[in-house]
Amino acid sequence: MTRAVPERSASLHADPGAPRHIAIIMDGNGRWANERGLPRLAGHRAGADNLQRVLQTLDSAGVEFVTLFAFSTENWNRPTSEVNGLLDLMQSVIGECVDELHKRNVCIRHLGELDQIPASLADATREAVKRTASNTGMNLCVAFDYGGRTEIVRAVRRVIAAGVAPHDITEDLIRENLYLPDVPDPDLIIRTAGEQRLSNFLIWQAAYSEYYQTPAYWPDFDDVEVERALNEYKRRRRRFGALPEED
Ligand code: FPP
Repeated sequence: MTRAVPERSASLHADPGAPRHIAIIMDGNGRWANERGLPRLAGHRAGADNLQRVLQTLDSAGVEFVTLFAFSTENWNRPTSEVNGLLDLMQSVIGECVDELHKRNVCIRHLGELDQIPASLADATREAVKRTASNTGMNLCVAFDYGGRTEIVRAVRRVIAAGVAPHDITEDLIRENLYLPDVPDPDLIIRTAGEQRLSNFLIWQAAYSEYYQTPAYWPDFDDVEVERALNEYKRRRRRFGALPEED
């Protein structure tokens, strides 16, 4: 679905140097739980409990798009109990958060596949997206059953199915067939828990994203951590493959 990108919101506290789009790999829930002698799912629950505050802080900073990596195509390979726990958690989070997000004018988007997940979760996701579709505030894009390679293959298939000849296939055409074509590329990708890889997240869109990692586990990623990430982003000089002006 292609929709118009809303104008940048004019929040009183918005930071003019803030990234327009932040994508987050919320890693370390399992280690957070393990260090406390808790089951892994308690870590995922704690991670979910951390969401609203981080989103509110990013919204206040004037970030227009936040994409969260909630469940990857590779996460199906985890033990069934953890997969089911994550699916149940997503369903609970939708139930708990959508009213509040809607009140805050947040537009919820989904990227990924909906046909492998339980029908009740797929329906709740579609319903949350539909209910908040005309909201004009921050776009919250939830990557659930999402994989970057799957997204690219799907885009290429759609282009071919539309009868486009090989020499007419362009980057723009691929982009137009991604899950959320109107969402700009992430300016900043944050990964918690110290890992330094993309793990098949937004691999097309990340071509020129700034990458930031912190040792903090996702449930501990608090406002101080958010501020550090935003400050680090401001120090980066983005060149997109060109030379800086003074060279
Ligand atoms: C990675 O931590 C995290 C996940 C696979 C799931 C992320 C989900 C949430 C934060 C909660 C739900 C979010 C939404 C939007 C509904 P890990 O399990 O790989 O941690 P580890 O590397 O320490 O084991």
